[in-house]
Amino acid sequence: MSFHAIAIDGPAASGKSTMARAIASRLGIIMVNSGAMYRAVTWKILSEGIDPKNIPAVVSMLDEIEITCGDDGLLSTILIDGVNPESHLRNPEINENVSVVSAIPEVREKLVSMQRDYLKRTHVVMEGRDIGSVVFPETPFKIYIDADPEVRNRRRSGDGEEDSVAKRDAADSSRATAPLKIADGATVLDTSQLSIEGAIEAAIQILHKQGFPMPQAANFDESEEQNKMMRWIYWFGWLLFGAAYRTLFGLRILGRENLILSGPVLVASNHQSFLDPPLIGNLYQTEMVFFARKTLFVSIGKWLFPQWNAIPIDQEKPDMSSMKTVIRKLKEGWRVLVFPEGARTLDGEIGPAAPGIGMIAAKAGVPIQPVRIFGADKALPRGSGKMSFARITVKVGKPIILSPEEFKAYSNKAGYEKLTERIMVAIKAL
Ligand code: DC
Repeated sequence: MSFHAIAIDGPAASGKSTMARAIASRLGIIMVNSGAMYRAVTWKILSEGIDPKNIPAVVSMLDEIEITCGDDGLLSTILIDGVNPESHLRNPEINENVSVVSAIPEVREKLVSMQRDYLKRTHVVMEGRDIGSVVFPETPFKIYIDADPEVRNRRRSGDGEEDSVAKRDAADSSRATAPLKIADGATVLDTSQLSIEGAIEAAIQILHKQGFPMPQAANFDESEEQNKMMRWIYWFGWLLFGAAYRTLFGLRILGRENLILSGPVLVASNHQSFLDPPLIGNLYQTEMVFFARKTLFVSIGKWLFPQWNAIPIDQEKPDMSSMKTVIRKLKEGWRVLVFPEGARTLDGEIGPAAPGIGMIAAKAGVPIQPVRIFGADKALPRGSGKMSFARITVKVGKPIILSPEEFKAYSNKAGYEKLTERIMVAIKAL
């Protein structure tokens, strides 16, 4: 089998690592941070007390050290003489010296060969400066990520890091060997004006256009169902409920800019009333999937609820098979609404989460969109059946997009619980 390489290049602090990680996690392949390899060698040089400008000394050290590149299934790892230098790699003295070290042809030769070795055993998303131009020039999957220098400086200092981005860019772009440049065939993606989620969506679309064989859940253009126009019956409910919310309850939506509008999304909302599912459905212009108490699937409901993409669920005992259904729907590319609390609130407060949402989120591997509803409990309180004209507000939170390390950390029972807690904290914070 031959493997695919996705090359992500760009200047310092352009968002390459975040993008590469998110792409890798969406596509289920490993991410290799080639900058970390140059940083690790720089760390070794400095810790041996060698002057990075003393090229003969650097080259002779290079012959003596053992560099082991691997991966933990999700992310690249590096050991130098058996030591993992990861915690030191973003220190100011490394930022200061890494461009000098990475301009040395012998250093590049050694590391480029190790970078190419990854592709002998697996698909990779690799980020760096010369991945599309030198390491994998033959790959058709290349993105050059850029952002305004001002934005990049802000991002780096926002990370609390001391790093002269402009100086490093100048050195990386002007060096003789493998300078930073836009590789032949690369698509440029400027992230200056984009949110992280917007940039990730754009990158996935670029790869799709470049012909990357997407797994179903990441293949947005072809996860047809939800990109299609609404079916009339769904549209009819959507319109009716939408109009009622706006006129009767003065519906207000805050944080609309945070909505992920394409691809599979696990929408996690607090639950106040019967009005909630269509309320969330109204945030979007395309169809989505809901769950509804199985006791509602009687008489006309038996016909109507499935038309509205509602799947029956046994609220008393949500079981493995319902969770599997949610995961399957997400993997098919659907946006799915889940109420982590399970049942509607009795007092307007957000109750404890039922087990399950963390597991669904960890297993489905899709972005999580936290949403909080206010006022629906007053508009239609549980158990009263009487409406009142209370104002309803829906707040949409920033999506939670897990990194491969986080997925790994959340992959067991304790992890599911932590992730559930994280989702609940995100909803409550709205
Ligand atoms: O991506 P980063 O900022 O962690 O990279 C650190 C330095 O490593 C960067 O200033 C230049 C060098 N580098 C390189 O020369 N080639 C690569 N493929 C990746 C990084």
